[in-house]
Amino acid sequence: MKDNKLNRRDFILNTTKVVGAGLAITALPQVFQSCDSEEVVTINNVPPDTFYELDLTPHPELLTPGGVKKVKIEGKNQGNPLIITHHKDGKFSALDSICKHMNCAVDAPSDSEGTINCQCHPNHYSTVDGSLSSGPFAGFKLTKFIVGKFDADKKILEIKI
Ligand code: FES
Repeated sequence: MKDNKLNRRDFILNTTKVVGAGLAITALPQVFQSCDSEEVVTINNVPPDTFYELDLTPHPELLTPGGVKKVKIEGKNQGNPLIITHHKDGKFSALDSICKHMNCAVDAPSDSEGTINCQCHPNHYSTVDGSLSSGPFAGFKLTKFIVGKFDADKKILEIKI
């Protein structure tokens, strides 16, 4: 009898160990999976695209509404300048200075009311959004970059580039 009680006790202990080990083995992939999930979250947690902060101090013509200037930002836009316009309503636009028709450079107008003119062919583009205003080669427009805030005190214009 005494042996039977011990055997039952041992049986229960051993069974508990086996079941416990089984549960642990079953749970392991989920533990690793949850670790993987955390890693994925970390990878996806890359900071969102940040704006480039362009200092307009060297470009005083852009500090007043109506100003337009071709500005090259070192290391950005494959070395091609941007056409930056400070519109009369206070908004800014930033456009690529390369015409998509045959990759010719475009010229900035003398003020925000003018058109951006291709140097190779008579296509003219809007300073607002780079769309084709007039010209023989339809279906082309200038790439427009997202403009963020303009800090007039610091003279910093945010451009997503
Ligand atoms: S390259 Fe600009 S219109 Fe032809």
